[in-house]
Amino acid sequence: MKRALCPGTFDPVTSGHLDIIGRAAGIFDEVVVGVALSHDKGAGPLFSPDERVAFISNAVTHLPNVSVRPFDTLLVDFAQKMDARVIVKGLRAVTDFEHEFQMAQLNYRLDENIETMFIMSIPEYAYLSSSAVKEIARHGGSVRGLVPDAVCEALATRLKQSQ
Ligand code: PNS
Repeated sequence: MKRALCPGTFDPVTSGHLDIIGRAAGIFDEVVVGVALSHDKGAGPLFSPDERVAFISNAVTHLPNVSVRPFDTLLVDFAQKMDARVIVKGLRAVTDFEHEFQMAQLNYRLDENIETMFIMSIPEYAYLSSSAVKEIARHGGSVRGLVPDAVCEALATRLKQSQ
């Protein structure tokens, strides 16, 4: 049984994340999507851990080998807990590389039994990020197609409340 862990903050999940999760689900027997609670990202996440988990869970109902769980520990500790020996991350462009390289090296230093593997983003999503989605939505632009429809609605509501 090969189980992989797809970690991220997912604030919110994008079509790019879902593409990587779906492709990982086609390679591994099981995929656990780990939603980091993430207290240290600037102003903090826009959506609560429960909301972020729900957005992803609702978007992967067609993938029976994918489960979604929040975590608030070191990534390697969560991978061990989930019995996942592989961490799968998406790589969009060279700009991602340095940060991802650093995290992969540190995670290897913390636990050399856990491998980090990368799946290249498809060109359609190579420019897509959760921060860009929030920025577009904050200024009233359309993010339809870039995130699940339920996230579009939630962004509109949340950003209206915070104005
Ligand atoms: O959505 P992101 O920013 O790509 O996700 C980053 C994430 C959640 C994978 C990273 O911040 C993380 O692993 N957090 C858990 C804490 C940890 O283990 N940090 C050390 C990694 S070098």
